[in-house]
Amino acid sequence: MAETRLSVDDLVAPLFVKEGIDEPQPIPSMPGVLQHTQESLRKEVRALADLGVPAVILFGVPATKDARGSGGDAPSGVVQVALKNLRDEVGDRLVLMADNCLDEYTDHGHCGILTADGEVDNDATLERYAAIAVAQAEAGVDVVAPSGMMDGQVGAIRAALDSSGHTDIAILAYAAKYASALYGPFRDAAECAPKFGDRKAYQMDARNAREAITEVALDVAEGADMIMVKPALAYLDVIATVRDAFDLPLAAYHVSGEYSMVQAAAANGWIDGDAVTLEHVTAIRRAGADFVLTYFARQLAERQ
Ligand code: PBG
Repeated sequence: MAETRLSVDDLVAPLFVKEGIDEPQPIPSMPGVLQHTQESLRKEVRALADLGVPAVILFGVPATKDARGSGGDAPSGVVQVALKNLRDEVGDRLVLMADNCLDEYTDHGHCGILTADGEVDNDATLERYAAIAVAQAEAGVDVVAPSGMMDGQVGAIRAALDSSGHTDIAILAYAAKYASALYGPFRDAAECAPKFGDRKAYQMDARNAREAITEVALDVAEGADMIMVKPALAYLDVIATVRDAFDLPLAAYHVSGEYSMVQAAAANGWIDGDAVTLEHVTAIRRAGADFVLTYFARQLAERQ
């Protein structure tokens, strides 16, 4: 009689791949999550495919960073290399998604190109996102996922993909992404904390729910194929509202801080980590998400 079920089909595993390391590196603030080498990433993705996890989303950590985030669209960039390797490894058994943003690649840690005054230049950034999307498409990505919250990013990426012959690459838009303190552990994992300031000029204010509808509507009009709300648990109301208002497939990102809080409390014996994980991810589905990006994807798939 259960109204909501959680299946392995609903899960996307976020994975980090780092350039220039010989061994996978643990991330202290995300126990159980690694910065992968190209080799360990191949093994992990094969294991996920064998468990039936239908998709992964890749985040790259380049060996060197610069002001324009050159590693993001270099053909030899860490994510482009990973995409080619993974296509070799798993063929079409699994959907390959890639995050499209600049913060992992810029030396200042912001999600865009900066003006001389240190402000993010929205329109200059769109050209960089477009170039990253084309580079990822050429490396074999199935779905590009712009996460930078620049105005017009979905339209710019759609136009760049279409005019370069990549009409069949889909866009998963991080449509309603809040400026959240829950991204802290991710910024350790991706080595992308901003060196100054914060992301409040481009990410959303946690006090706003109606604004989510405006943001999602823009991305839908610009050609998004799937939409996302992020983070998840503190925004279940937003997930439910967006579910009611739009018919596109809806994702929710169960983010790093949400993962690490459960892991920390479970490691202390304060909560039953497995039970809480199942409750949390099921609640995200109950609120209306069709699929969930979660660092617990592998554990959940192993337990099914
Ligand atoms: C930005 C990006 C972030 C996350 C995904 N993409 C970090 C940020 O906006 O600061 C966070 C995901 C998580 O916390 O798990 N490229």
